[in-house]
Amino acid sequence: MTEAGHTPTVLVLGGGLMGLSIAHQLARRGCDVHVISRRRSEAAGFVAAGMLAPHAEGLSGPLLALGRQSLSLIPRWVGQIEADSGLSCGLRTSGIVVPFRTVKERDAYPTASLGQYLDADQLAREVDGLAPTWTAGLLFEQDGQIDNRRRLMRALERACVSLGVQFLEGSEVQDLLKDSVGHLKGVMVQTAEGVIQDLPCHQAVLCSGAWSQQLVPQLPVTPVKGQMLSLQGPRDALKRVIFGPGTYLVPREDGLVVVGATSERNAGFRDGLTPDGQSQLQAGIASLLPAASQWPPMERWWGFRPCTPDEGPLLGEGPIPGLWLATGHHRNGVLLAAITSQLISAALSTTNQTISQQEKHLFGLFRWDRFKTTI
Ligand code: GLY
Repeated sequence: MTEAGHTPTVLVLGGGLMGLSIAHQLARRGCDVHVISRRRSEAAGFVAAGMLAPHAEGLSGPLLALGRQSLSLIPRWVGQIEADSGLSCGLRTSGIVVPFRTVKERDAYPTASLGQYLDADQLAREVDGLAPTWTAGLLFEQDGQIDNRRRLMRALERACVSLGVQFLEGSEVQDLLKDSVGHLKGVMVQTAEGVIQDLPCHQAVLCSGAWSQQLVPQLPVTPVKGQMLSLQGPRDALKRVIFGPGTYLVPREDGLVVVGATSERNAGFRDGLTPDGQSQLQAGIASLLPAASQWPPMERWWGFRPCTPDEGPLLGEGPIPGLWLATGHHRNGVLLAAITSQLISAALSTTNQTISQQEKHLFGLFRWDRFKTTI
């Protein structure tokens, strides 16, 4: 509540996974929340494979710590979404296996000490049908997955609606409006009907993913395109996620296997599938699990990861006072949605004095301007 006793309005700029997660947590804390969403289908939350994999991804430093913290929040976070929506999010503690060609490669992996070491026999037992070229592995039982594309996004949206979050669908933020001292005072929006209107607010959260720079040019966020596909495997043919170099296979409960992903840094926002991208995925499938090359393909799609120079997110207040940032999550958006929504909602629904020391510390580590060099 504000000092005047009424509920503060927060505008969430972006209706993807980050925007919905933050809107949901803010609404749980009693805020009046409006989500402005341009095109839901392009949200990275629909594109990702849903791995919850700080260890399997081989993260390090503050990003590993953030990822591990978020992983620990996920069961409770998912419980809240499921309770508020009445829908399952498809969380699976399937564990993730990272295979290697040599023991030396395995032992050099950044998170090796946090996993279980597998020799060739143990690896073959963990992943039935794994190609014999993989002779060592790491099992991260603590990592998992969530069915982001089919379940989580829908459940989050339903949870938001049930808590009174308002949506402006098909609307695009054209500009950020500032007062005479440079503080945010609103946003200029083009609605789905093409009408331009100003929406006043003192606080907004930028959750525009790969498109963040279009609104705030100072932000060092660039798109990294990823192409993906899915296969229909036999139910339970694959029990663990396999995270190979350049390709991963994520088995859902019903046998659907999500396969990712290319990592195209020079593709900009170029839409569409490419023969090279698709053959890279096919080659990756064949090199990991030869039998899966015969499983029928179901869907193919692509999206754009929001990447920063150190591949960590931008969290906290941005260059315009009143505009908060929750963007730049690159490969780890699904994993980091829990901690991001907790941090941002805590900061926006209380005063700075009541943010915990730990939250302040995290905002410090992931400031938007941490890349500036001093001369
Ligand atoms: N999180 C995996 C990817 O971005 O491809």
